[in-house]
Amino acid sequence: MKTPRFSLLAAASVLGLFTGILPAQNATPDERARAMLARMTTEEKIGQIQQIHGPDEAAASEGRVGSFLNIVDPAISMKLQREAVEQSRLGIPLLLGRDVIHGFRTVFPIPLGTACTWDDDLAREGARAAAAEAAVGGYNWTFSPMVDISRDARWGRIAESFGEDPYLSARMAAAFVEGYQSPMPGRPKGIAACVKHFGGYGAAEAGRDYGSTPIPPRELNDVYLKPYEGGVKAGALTVMSAFNELDGVPCTGSHFLLTEVLRQRWGFEGMVVSDWESVVELTTHGFAKDHREAAMRAINAGLDMEMTSHSYRDYMADLLASGEVSMATLDERVLAILRVKYALGLFEDPYGPAFDAKKYLLPETLALAQRTAEEGAVLLKNEGDLLPLGKGVTVAVVGPLADAAHEQLGTWAPDGRDADAVTPLAALRVKLGADRVIYAPGLTYSRDASTGGFAAAVAAAKKADVVLCFAGEESLLSGEAHSRADITLPGEQEALVQALAATGKPVVLVLMTGRPVAIENLRGKVPAILAAFHGGTMAGPALANLLFGDASPSGRLTVSWPMASGQEPIYYNHKSSGRPASYGDFVPIEKIPQGQLQTSLGFKNSHIDLPPWPAWPFGFGLTYGKIGYSDLELSAKKIGMDGVLTVSATVTNSGARAATEVVQLYVRDDYGCVTRPVRELKGYERVSLAPGESKKVSFTLRPEDLSFTHIDMAMGPEKGTFTVWIAPDSASGLEGHFSLE
Ligand code: GLC
Repeated sequence: MKTPRFSLLAAASVLGLFTGILPAQNATPDERARAMLARMTTEEKIGQIQQIHGPDEAAASEGRVGSFLNIVDPAISMKLQREAVEQSRLGIPLLLGRDVIHGFRTVFPIPLGTACTWDDDLAREGARAAAAEAAVGGYNWTFSPMVDISRDARWGRIAESFGEDPYLSARMAAAFVEGYQSPMPGRPKGIAACVKHFGGYGAAEAGRDYGSTPIPPRELNDVYLKPYEGGVKAGALTVMSAFNELDGVPCTGSHFLLTEVLRQRWGFEGMVVSDWESVVELTTHGFAKDHREAAMRAINAGLDMEMTSHSYRDYMADLLASGEVSMATLDERVLAILRVKYALGLFEDPYGPAFDAKKYLLPETLALAQRTAEEGAVLLKNEGDLLPLGKGVTVAVVGPLADAAHEQLGTWAPDGRDADAVTPLAALRVKLGADRVIYAPGLTYSRDASTGGFAAAVAAAKKADVVLCFAGEESLLSGEAHSRADITLPGEQEALVQALAATGKPVVLVLMTGRPVAIENLRGKVPAILAAFHGGTMAGPALANLLFGDASPSGRLTVSWPMASGQEPIYYNHKSSGRPASYGDFVPIEKIPQGQLQTSLGFKNSHIDLPPWPAWPFGFGLTYGKIGYSDLELSAKKIGMDGVLTVSATVTNSGARAATEVVQLYVRDDYGCVTRPVRELKGYERVSLAPGESKKVSFTLRPEDLSFTHIDMAMGPEKGTFTVWIAPDSASGLEGHFSLE
């Protein structure tokens, strides 16, 4: 008798549940993980929660490891994977992780630069291209995107972040996650993303890395947690716990963060990996008396996999025996790891694409990196429309970053190569011809304190029509553990720019940095300033195109650009205070008459030697067009709790050059049960405008877009009045008003 197909399938499913071999086509990662868990010994479970730095073939072949990181030789990665899959008892594949932060062999701009493109689609494409290269390099997991909100440019890791805004950072987080986890050659499910560092790591006091992060609970919900939520909701398979402590609880041991927020509030079903030895650092924090207690507190908080330290390996069996850790808890941790491995398709294809160096630096990947560098550069000043330059000019190329391949790759570019990088000098020589480029660096590196090269630089300037000065920071001056208390240009770079300006020749200052640097002493001395950040492998061609109009600047700041280190932290979405300073209030300190009484100054929320606003605000950036905003329209004056408001305006380019404008939507909750930021970004759109062209740009707002954490810690919108802007940046725009009733 012919047995109906469905009963065979049913039988196989039941059998599979017990044998752990479920038909892949009809089982979820969770079902498959549970079936596998049922077959695992305690030792094999403890193996899965361990990530080892550097190869360990015995651990791989005996199933005593769940992941390796930084296995830089693809052949060794493949060997370890084969040992795990083909020799261990259960054949559970390995996660092979790497910091693919902004590209792999093709280095993209630092994430802060990519964020300044305000181009989610481009960011997604770039992440996918980086993942495709990393997959060829033997990796199936990247410890990226880093989405920590950073309001303090002294913090070295601002370079890796998307900046100060929760809404934009959440959109960029989603774009990167989608890019990493999208189909690519040899990896139909992509590679696993890792949203980090959860949470609030960027709020380090004084910008000192690893420092305490005093974040009030409402600000934690409404600002700092938003980007991680954006990445998780986009489907990130993994999250990394952060080094810092929040209100006395280190994130790596925080049940509130790792279980209550991540799993219970957001429904996260992936896996949490610690940061480098952050489990055993619970003892250094004074949160655990020894490594055994650190392991107990981390695993009970919700930390699934221990990176590089081995307290889980050393103490888990003992903790289980004593009952301080239950088998149910260990099972939950292992299930999370197995779900990721099934979701990634590693059981179907543990090996991924064969290594092939020809898959690196593909023309389309280099073009993506270059476009990202072009769109991520922010034109801060362009007096007299000096830029774009005509191609007939002779330029003096000066500055320590003009021909610094290693530096332009930026921080966290371990798989990039200096030899691949095209520097501004090289690109300008190609674009203009060597005879019209006079090169004299003036300084040999960014911290160079010797002025011996100034004479040659000044001489070059005098022979040229225009001076292009590439100044900034060496890559090691930003990134992890590389925070700076003084964020002016290092070395004698300010003096160099002053000397160049003194020649009377027009100077274009191009800043290649890992952060916004305080250049208040130079701002009035040069007619044009382009913030390029560390632009990666193709920074040179990108900058040459922007300077000569073969590309048009469209970048917008995602960080407030400080006038001085002492202004930090400085950010646009601040609270009003009871005495906000307005533009007319500030009296420059040198103008304060002598002998004044203590009561002579303005009693405003401001220093007396600098105003409380940045040199350039969040969202700011110039184009080569002449952009105007008009005809703000609101679809209603009030909306109900189930309503939708459409806000629109007309954007016009009255200039002679095409431009792409990043149109921004901001709101202010005029008053609430708690104080609210003076502005919050709630939308943005890149709009291309031909000369003379106008376009109507519309945004929609719903009550849930206005949600915040109330005085009783409940989250949601609140009735009241709101101000709304459609704007070119966070300090201006067309203003309207509506109410939520
Ligand atoms: C580092 C960083 C983290 C990185 C990890 C692995 O200390 O904090 O961002 O992913 O270790 O390299």
